[in-house]
Amino acid sequence: MPAGTPASSAWPGLKMAEKGPEDQKTDKEELYSDRRRFAHGHNFSSAPTFATISPVQIHLRSDEVGVGVRGSNLKKAVLITGASSGIGAATAIEFSKNGYFVYLMGRNKERLQDVALKCRSGASIVSCDLSDEAALNKRLGEVMGAKIHRVECVVNNAGIYESNTTESGSDELWSRQFEVNMLGPLRIVRAFFPYFKEQGGGSIVNISSTLGLRPQGPTSAYSAVKAALVNWTESLALEGGPLNIRANCVCPGLVDTPIHQFHALPEDQKKATLDKMGGLQPLGRIGKPEDIARAVYFLGSDLSSWTTGAVLSVDGGINLT
Ligand SMILES: NC(=O)c1ccc[n+]([C@@H]2O[C@H](COP(=O)([O-])OP(=O)(O)OC[C@H]3O[C@@H](n4cnc5c(N)ncnc54)[C@H](OP(=O)(O)O)[C@@H]3O)[C@@H](O)[C@H]2O)c1
Repeated sequence: MPAGTPASSAWPGLKMAEKGPEDQKTDKEELYSDRRRFAHGHNFSSAPTFATISPVQIHLRSDEVGVGVRGSNLKKAVLITGASSGIGAATAIEFSKNGYFVYLMGRNKERLQDVALKCRSGASIVSCDLSDEAALNKRLGEVMGAKIHRVECVVNNAGIYESNTTESGSDELWSRQFEVNMLGPLRIVRAFFPYFKEQGGGSIVNISSTLGLRPQGPTSAYSAVKAALVNWTESLALEGGPLNIRANCVCPGLVDTPIHQFHALPEDQKKATLDKMGGLQPLGRIGKPEDIARAVYFLGSDLSSWTTGAVLSVDGGINLT
């Protein structure tokens, strides 16, 4: 965060925490203790705070501590885009279960708040539209400048799906697909590269799609852009390797999230639809967000420390049919 910027105005999510008696703290102390209140759930006034100690003095378990050059005593963190819903929300909770502080990026603050409350290792909301480059760079600058956590992983998950054929897809549709699904991730990684270099490494996970490996149906723009994401991940892995920056890609198959119209169907109709679509998958069901989240956690964390450039299909086997 730029010096002198009030924490509460730069971090919209923090406004929801009630102000307590420790209102006189420095920005960093306030930021941290508010996050703890966030993390511990609804009863903000009785949740523990760390108002009297500076964030870097807080005792962390050894599995919470980063091991690289930058602030080795800082708690490890992950930034996840599209964290307000579906796969991104499940991924945030998965990282949190494993001790990561989570920066939750998305546009819908209410839904981001709901996810933040489920992140038991702490979370902060970074509300931003990925297609607004200036706002995005400002938000990323705040995350990287806060120096309260050590961001070890970035998950480029946010995405929009639109149906089109080559004949029907307008330039606007193609531009929108490219802007959110490809340029957004690119801008985030470009911003994070110097940060990762300085701290001696980092990990990037891009969320593509089985359609990025093999298009199906009227999805030409979405499929082409998701294919670009796969290919770019491989370039990133080559560029980042010597810098200990890993880049991997997850290609989900059909997953039950709000990106699909069937997600909002009445329960009986939805069940019939899911059963029908599940029957087409070798594993007999469509995916849950948690199925993808576990794979993203594997590739994003040190569990996969010798893996880069991997393109992992998590799709119930549909790519074999
Ligand atoms: N579900 C599937 O079957 C499936 C299959 C293959 C790949 N995927 C990919 O998985 C990723 C997650 O999708 P999902 O299924 O979890 O869908 P979802 O529930 O609709 O989530 C999409 C997320 O992207 C965010 N987002 C969209 N446009 C944005 C923008 N302009 N700026 C910032 N955030 C934006 C949304 O946040 P806000 O609304 O808060 O902005 C939301 O959190 C996507 O990249 C998608 O292409 C999904």
